[in-house]
Parts: sequence; C-alpha cells; structure tokens
Amino acid sequence: MKRLRLSITGFGTVGQGLAELLSTKRDLLQQEYNLDITLVSVANARSGFIYREAGITHRESALEGLQATGGDILVEATPTNLHDAEPGMSHIRIAISQGMHVVAANKGPGALAANELFALAQQHGVQLRMESTVMAGTPVISTIREGMAGASVHALRGILNGTTNYILTAMAAGQSYAAALADAQARGYAETDPTADVEGHDAVAKTLILAALIFGRSLKPGDVIRQGITTITREQVQQAIEQDKRIKLVASLRLLAGDERKEEALEARVEPIALPLSDPLARVDGVMNALTIATDTLSEVTIIGPGAGRVATGQGLLADVIACACERV
Ligand SMILES: NC(=O)c1ccc[n+]([C@@H]2O[C@H](COP(=O)([O-])OP(=O)(O)OC[C@H]3O[C@@H](n4cnc5c(N)ncnc54)[C@H](OP(=O)(O)O)[C@@H]3O)[C@@H](O)[C@H]2O)c1
Repeated sequence: MKRLRLSITGFGTVGQGLAELLSTKRDLLQQEYNLDITLVSVANARSGFIYREAGITHRESALEGLQATGGDILVEATPTNLHDAEPGMSHIRIAISQGMHVVAANKGPGALAANELFALAQQHGVQLRMESTVMAGTPVISTIREGMAGASVHALRGILNGTTNYILTAMAAGQSYAAALADAQARGYAETDPTADVEGHDAVAKTLILAALIFGRSLKPGDVIRQGITTITREQVQQAIEQDKRIKLVASLRLLAGDERKEEALEARVEPIALPLSDPLARVDGVMNALTIATDTLSEVTIIGPGAGRVATGQGLLADVIACACERV
C-alpha cells in the first residue's frame, strides 16, 4: 500500500468537497489504486494552518505551516486572484520547492504563471496538475493531453462560465438581464459582486490556462479580447432565437496561420456570440459548461459537463491526486 500525506490550503466549498470524497472513497482508493491517503493538514483564512499527524499543531499561516510540515501532495484551493495570484502562488511555489506534487483548483496561479510553475515543478521532479480549474471535474485537460495524445489541436471554443450561461439561458426563456442575474444570485450561482463572471474575467482566466496547457503559450490577461454579457439585452437574445440562434459567452483560442519564419499566433477571445443551433455549444444550457476541441485527426470533439460545484470540483481534484500518486505524467 502506498501511503501519501496530503495538505489542503483553502478549506471552503472545494477543499471540503475533496476531503469528503477522500473519506467516502477511502476503500475504493485502497482497493483500486493501492493508495492510503491521509489528510494531514488544512488551512483557511480564519483558523490558519492546522496540522494533524501526531497530535494537533496550530500555526499562524498556511505558508509557515507548509514550510514546517511538508507532505507528499498539496491541494491548493484558496480564492482565485487574477492580480497577483496570491496567496495560492506562494503556497504552490513553497510546496514544489519542498518536493511536493501540487494539484490546483485555484485559477490564479495557472492563469498568470502556468509555464513558470511547470518549469519549477520539472526542476524539482514533481507534478503540477490543474484539471479542475477548467470545467471543474469534467475532464477536458486530461482528455486533450492524454486521450488525444499525438493529435494537433488548432482551436478550442467553449462555454466555460456557468453563471453567465445560466443568465443567458434565463434571458432566452424571456427574463431581463437584471431579473436573470438576481435569480442566479438567489440560487448561489452568482456572487453578490458578479463582476468576475459577467464581465468575462473568469472565462479569461480559464482561457489563459488552456493557452498554457494545450498550446504552451504564456498569454497575459490583456492579450485576450474580452467582452462580458452586461450589455446584452432581452431583445437581442429574442432576436437571435427568431433566427434559430442562441447567444452564448464563448471563450476561444485559435492558431492563426503563420509562415516559415514566424510561429503561428494564438488568438484568444471571450465574447458573446449568436451561435446557430447546428453548433453543439448553442444547445448547452443552464450552468452546464462545454468545450469543442478542433484537431487534425478528430475533426471536432465536444465535451459537455458540470463546470462548478462541491463534488464535481472535488472529483477533478481527486483524479489529479490519483494521477500524481500513480506518477502519471
Ligand atoms: N466552487 C467551485 O465550484 C469551483 C470550481 C472550480 C474552481 N474553483 C476554485 O477553487 C478555489 C476555491 O473555491 P471555493 O468555492 O472552495 O471558495 P471558498 O468556499 O470561498 O473557499 C476559499 C477558502 O480559502 C480560504 N483562504 C482564503 N485566504 C486564505 C489564506 N491566505 N490562507 C489559507 N486559506 C485561505 C478561505 O478561508 P475562510 O473560510 O477562513 O475565509 C476558505 O476556506 C477558488 O480559487 C475557485 O476559483 C471553485
């Protein structure tokens, strides 16, 4: 039996969801994967870092705690910050430099510094995985990197934000933008301050992560052409319906033809588009997410699934933890 010591920084919805899965799937992990995973520490903002291996030690900050206790795998699930990616960035750097594998739910470090962090991980001989940062537990990154190994991806187009898709779906059913947003907030799909979702910043973060992980490009937030959904009116949505179209917030990455001397440029956009009903993305409604992958060998493949939620995100983290533990690259 392989024993692993796991730490979680950020013990909110997602961190607790993973802790629950590690407990309910304890027998499966032992029987199917020969893994005995012990959660040795958790950290949140209010209580700091709590370590439990031989008794309980309480330390001031997650960073101090990680430095003092180490472990085999860090799951980083503190809030996403698209300005400097902290505190997650420091947690990830310290964990990697101590020889820990890292699994991130937090989008900030991957969006702002994925390639730098991958280089650091390689230098220390550990894995950095972030499946749940894009479409939660719906496996898009591993499907492309492992399931489509050898294929050349030339474009990605997706509905990567459930909140805006819920609002646009409600508007297609006749609601105004304000009423649809209030409904999304009442159901817990939208934050009190919905800016990150409705202005497209969350979709930009996921686009940056895909640019780095699938195309190997380090784009900056300003490189992504961004338009949110705040100016979309009920009339525009209804007009699209009359033309057999649906307005969706589409995140896209596309390689533009280069020439022999120049690398192909990667165009990155997040914007509302009226999609014809023949487009698989047009029929993805509510909080569902989807990604269409265009490759040389498979034409187009579309993956549809949940893009948020306690258990759905926990599943993405669990799959990454198992992959690290089994040393899958
Ligand atoms: N929710 C989803 O469905 C989903 C899906 C994919 C990715 N994600 C990403 O996963 C991450 C976590 O999301 P969530 O929904 O679990 O958020 P959440 O419920 O707000 O939890 C965030 C946790 O981070 C803790 N925290 C904040 N600052 C910290 C610090 N400096 N040191 C240690 N802990 C700190 C908070 O502590 P307190 O409780 O004390 O404030 C809280 O426990 C975010 O980056 C999010 O973007 C979420």
